[in-house]
Amino acid sequence: MLIRRNWREHLPWIIVILAISVVSIYWYGVLAAETPWDRRPKGSDLALFVFGIAGGSICLFEFLLWPRKRWRVLRLGPTKVWMRAHIWLGLLAVPLLILHSGFYFRNFEATLLLVLFLIVILSGVWGLILQQIIPQRMLAEVPAETIYSQIEHVSNLLVEEGDRLVIATCGVTKATEAEPATALITAREEEALLAAAAASTHYTVGAVRQVGGVQGMVLESKPALQPVPNSEPLRDFFNQTAARYLKRGAESRSPLVDPTQARILFSDLRLALDPAAHEAVAALENLCDQRRQFDRQAKLHYWLHNWLWVHLPLSLALILLMFVHIYKTLQYWWPG
Ligand code: HEM
Repeated sequence: MLIRRNWREHLPWIIVILAISVVSIYWYGVLAAETPWDRRPKGSDLALFVFGIAGGSICLFEFLLWPRKRWRVLRLGPTKVWMRAHIWLGLLAVPLLILHSGFYFRNFEATLLLVLFLIVILSGVWGLILQQIIPQRMLAEVPAETIYSQIEHVSNLLVEEGDRLVIATCGVTKATEAEPATALITAREEEALLAAAAASTHYTVGAVRQVGGVQGMVLESKPALQPVPNSEPLRDFFNQTAARYLKRGAESRSPLVDPTQARILFSDLRLALDPAAHEAVAALENLCDQRRQFDRQAKLHYWLHNWLWVHLPLSLALILLMFVHIYKTLQYWWPG
């Protein structure tokens, strides 16, 4: 959730949680001042009891976000409102539960509960910070962004597109004799590509365009490339280096992973080819650039979501331990 853009909608929440926090701290201060020096504020004192009930209820509410996300069809109110409540009530629970502890940290299970709670809060804050940064970076650094789950499929399409370019430039007859692109494409697929390259009158390249403040990828359709004599270096480069990179990206450990090295390799390739083949080199370079962006997208996606692997299981552990804490407290208050 982006807070900066809708900060006005968050403002009432901030004011209310600040007010409740100040009142709670004041109430704790009054209790501490009234408590005789030889005892400490306890969970059975009204103020600490209220802080515990309020903080615990907030934790339960916070956890409801999980079933809410899983069963969206239930339409339990707008997501934005849930998220705002999740963030600000979660933060309100921090002063409430710290005060509820009465700053007494000698009970192992209660202290563990507080530590768990603070880790859940910190992971939530960390996730929220990432949500403020990463989507912006995604827009700026990954104009070729695709649906995350489709990266593998789209990468295969890039290999096919590259193969078509090479076949069109190096000539259909010669390509038939050549090895299929590093066994990444089967012989049958290669035949289909050959037919497509021979028949196609156009090829597509992706280009980054900016309209006003919005930057994005557009696909340009260009007239089909004509065969260029002596363009074998292009085929070799594609078969030995580019095809693997287009398919596997950074995992291929290809020199094309590094944009500077890629630029050098493509300049060398241009030098080895007739200028008439340079358009094909530029198109192939463009495909590699798209692949690099998919790797970047996968990395940013990882950072945008990996913190939930801490936040979600620990919040479940927190809820379970909270019930143990409540049960033990009730047993202590009303033994037998
Ligand atoms: C007791 C405290 C908290 C508990 C028990 C809790 C629990 C949860 C749960 C169960 C989810 C859903 C995970 C999923 O399935 O995706 C979630 C998501 C999230 N929480 Fe918390 N949370 C707490 C506090 C916080 C706080 C204080 C913040 C931020 C300041 C926060 C930020 C987030 C964010 C950003 C998400 C991801 C929502 C999304 O974009 O889908 N959480 N939390």
